[in-house]
Amino acid sequence: MFARAAVRALNSQPRLFSTTAARNTKVVVLGAGGGIGQPLSLLLKTDPLVTSLNLYDIRGAPGVAADVSHIDTPSEVQGFAADKLDEALDGVEVVVIPAGVPRKPGMTRDDLFNTNASIVRDLASAVGRVAPTAHILVISNPVNSTVPIVASTLAKAGVYNPARVFGVTTLDVVRAARFTAGVAGVHPNDTPVPVIGGHSGTTIVPLLSQSAHGKGINGEVYDKLIYRIQFGGDEVVQAKDGAGSATLSMAYAGATFANALFRGLNGEKGVVTPTFVESPLYKDQGIDFFSSNVELGVNGVEKIHPLGPLSAEEEKLLAACLPELKKNIERGRAFVESS
Ligand code: NAI
Repeated sequence: MFARAAVRALNSQPRLFSTTAARNTKVVVLGAGGGIGQPLSLLLKTDPLVTSLNLYDIRGAPGVAADVSHIDTPSEVQGFAADKLDEALDGVEVVVIPAGVPRKPGMTRDDLFNTNASIVRDLASAVGRVAPTAHILVISNPVNSTVPIVASTLAKAGVYNPARVFGVTTLDVVRAARFTAGVAGVHPNDTPVPVIGGHSGTTIVPLLSQSAHGKGINGEVYDKLIYRIQFGGDEVVQAKDGAGSATLSMAYAGATFANALFRGLNGEKGVVTPTFVESPLYKDQGIDFFSSNVELGVNGVEKIHPLGPLSAEEEKLLAACLPELKKNIERGRAFVESS
């Protein structure tokens, strides 16, 4: 099954996919026609915990839905055109948002802010109105700002629940496991690496010291590995040469995180994975959102784990992360306040 390996890597108490869905999970993908949206919709169609899958985009969602709906899994699939956002959101429990523009060579994720901020704000506003208790998984970049945008938009509407808004940072976790496995010469399943902070460049802080095969890596090899985890997205942007950023690995990562949430919502215990959420960890420094290991449960965020011991190098990476992250969060917040 598609996400088995990564679920194992992400979860501190590994379990295989459960096929005995105790309850229905109705999911919508907003941006389902895009580079991430299409393969993500495909993967969600193969997830046994999804019973109903709505696909929405301003372009092309009905076609993607017709295609995906022929796959022989039990879930029902429906496509919704641009003017059918409210119908697409009706009764959904989980909203996945990959809508927005991706990077081109030379761009940072922050360069996407001007276009994606309003897309995400408007979609969050519709979720707040039609499906106010839904769990929202934000993929659209810059995640460090779009998650605060979703939170502030819902708060404005009086329906914000911090246990239900997640920035999807799973691709950083997937890359960390894959790249560390390559360096250590072991299987990626055996090299889970917690990744904390945010989701862009130096705000991505991999904790190799907490990984069985990562903790022995040091010197130049360590520096190169950290750089590759932080800036791995650039490799894809450059290789695609103007055609976009990571879509297939991101769809895999998004489906993996969604499956972890579905399992938590279904009452499975011990589902733990890094995700960017409202967090108490650095609130005293004015940083309201932070990614760290989070236990997912029936209400969404069940418990935010402490970071655990950091090495001297990781303390330095964190010191570089925090001011940038703070700026990104404030930019998102300010955008909604001035809207
Ligand atoms: P894409 O351009 O291929 O697809 C985006 C889709 O969003 C298009 O189909 C477009 O029609 C749709 N869209 C635009 N405005 C919309 C709206 N108001 N409502 C519904 N749909 C709308 O882009 P791609 O490659 O799928 O990337 C999507 C986003 O995901 C980008 O912001 C990208 O930076 C981000 N991303 C996030 C990652 C992460 O780790 N969280 C990794 C890779 C990309």
